[in-house]
Amino acid sequence: MQALESRVRRGPDFDRNAAAYAGLIDTLRQRHGHILGGGGEKLRLRHRDRGKIPVRERIDHLVDPLSPFLELSPLAAWELYVNEVPAAGIVTGIGVVAGLPCMVIANDATVKGGSFFAETVKKHLRAQEIAFENKLPCLYLVDCGGAFLPEQDRVFPDRDHFGGTFFQQCRMSGAGLPQISAVFGACTAGGAYIPALSDEVIMVRGTGRIHLGGPPIVKAAINEVVDGETLGGAEMHSQVSGVSDYLANSEIEALAKMRDIVAAINWPAPPPRAQRPIRPPLHDPAELGGIVGTDLKRPFDVHEVIARVVDGSEFQEFKPAYGAMLVCGFAWIHGEPVGILANNGVLFSEAAVKGAHFIELCDQRRTPLVFLQNITGFMVGTEAERGGIAKHSAKLVYAVSNTRVPRYTVIIGGSYGAGNYGMCGRGFQPRFLFSWPNARIATMSADVAATVVTDLRRASLTRGVANEAEIARVDQQTRTQFEEQSTPYYATARLWDDGIIEPGQTRDVLGLCLALASREAELPGYRPVYRM
Ligand code: COA
Repeated sequence: MQALESRVRRGPDFDRNAAAYAGLIDTLRQRHGHILGGGGEKLRLRHRDRGKIPVRERIDHLVDPLSPFLELSPLAAWELYVNEVPAAGIVTGIGVVAGLPCMVIANDATVKGGSFFAETVKKHLRAQEIAFENKLPCLYLVDCGGAFLPEQDRVFPDRDHFGGTFFQQCRMSGAGLPQISAVFGACTAGGAYIPALSDEVIMVRGTGRIHLGGPPIVKAAINEVVDGETLGGAEMHSQVSGVSDYLANSEIEALAKMRDIVAAINWPAPPPRAQRPIRPPLHDPAELGGIVGTDLKRPFDVHEVIARVVDGSEFQEFKPAYGAMLVCGFAWIHGEPVGILANNGVLFSEAAVKGAHFIELCDQRRTPLVFLQNITGFMVGTEAERGGIAKHSAKLVYAVSNTRVPRYTVIIGGSYGAGNYGMCGRGFQPRFLFSWPNARIATMSADVAATVVTDLRRASLTRGVANEAEIARVDQQTRTQFEEQSTPYYATARLWDDGIIEPGQTRDVLGLCLALASREAELPGYRPVYRM
């Protein structure tokens, strides 16, 4: 396969872009650093004083030494609830335990007692969805006060609320995907149901508790006064009720037991790793910031991005001379085969049809798809409409929707309008979707939105219901709204993606995700475990 050449020349323009991009990465790292503090110094100390280990340290003890851990949506709930619910109070991610990739779902009890906000539920559900699709066992590190009561209407009653997480747990167990819980804190109501619905349960003596209703609920409901340990302590549940299968004397012992359980799962051995030797790109991924820059209006050649993501920078481009605004081609990432679709400008009919054809090729060859999104949309205007852009773009959307191969999306620039659909945006359920810190996502850009909205107002003006001052106000208001709502932080806070990643991390993150899918043909689909 031929290697892509780079035409990037370092100079003042490149340096300016690289410096601006470095600012974006600094901000991202600071924000990632901020959420590591959980519920703050005071609550972290209280947590430790109770002999409990902070959530990310628990995960460190659980996963294999020196193995990667892909944390998902670390900035969920960012700037929501006056930024007092870091990471939405829950850590989710894929880690390797006893040699097996597993989904880890772990409550942070320093954040409002590990209780569930709307974004916590969404993040928990999303982790389960990823586990289901990629056939991963789920390991729950439970320390959870159930629904955050002031938010109960956004957490409890609807389909994709708390009940949905339990439905998924039962369905995954039914599909042969082990569900294992370790209980570290006083788990109440919904928090109690996570272990109660697990295939195997470990409880920590002294701190772990499971009660469908905690002492205040019991008092309110049946006027019984009882302490938490008597009601739902680890000893009682391990020796009397049988809700717990293993009693651990410490958190470390519980985590070691969880590793032992995973080691005994009898999972089919993974196939030999990577289909090809893994080779770094010829061109340096650290240059991506300087290439892409921070100004979405400034075009860049997406070949330069591909050349810094794929093995050996090798790329077998499909139909390079046709529909060139959509670059399609075959490559390898960390030894796994991929078909890449990447934007190099607005999508015309030719590009849409070429993309649909390329997806069919990948489907026939069982080659996973990677979408690199930087798209203002499909072409508009009389010529485009007369050329059938609506039906040609629909062909791409159909191909994206119906292909049988795994799909992965990275938003490396703009993600606007129907371009988002044709390039496998969140609505099209790619297995994973990550954004770069320069990304923007909205129906349209702030400039276009302001023009549309003020034009509508101007039409009202001719009917005498608006004036120029009001139009100026609406223009400003629309710009502010679109600018604020299209940032990657606004998006990731609301779980519209699986996290913001640095451009230089893209090939490693995709490599991990692709490796999960490469094993799945071997994996089982058995029966649920009914707790007795
Ligand atoms: N809803 C609303 N707020 C909750 C909550 C819940 N389910 N669980 C905890 N919180 C809040 C507390 O009010 C407190 O808020 P503050 O810091 O603003 O004062 C904070 O989270 C920490 O709780 P705290 O009780 O100090 O922590 P803890 O570690 O000692 O105990 C729990 C944790 C979960 C055992 C305890 O908070 C509790 O019993 N919560 C209620 C559980 C419940 O009844 N859930 C039913 C949901 S349907």
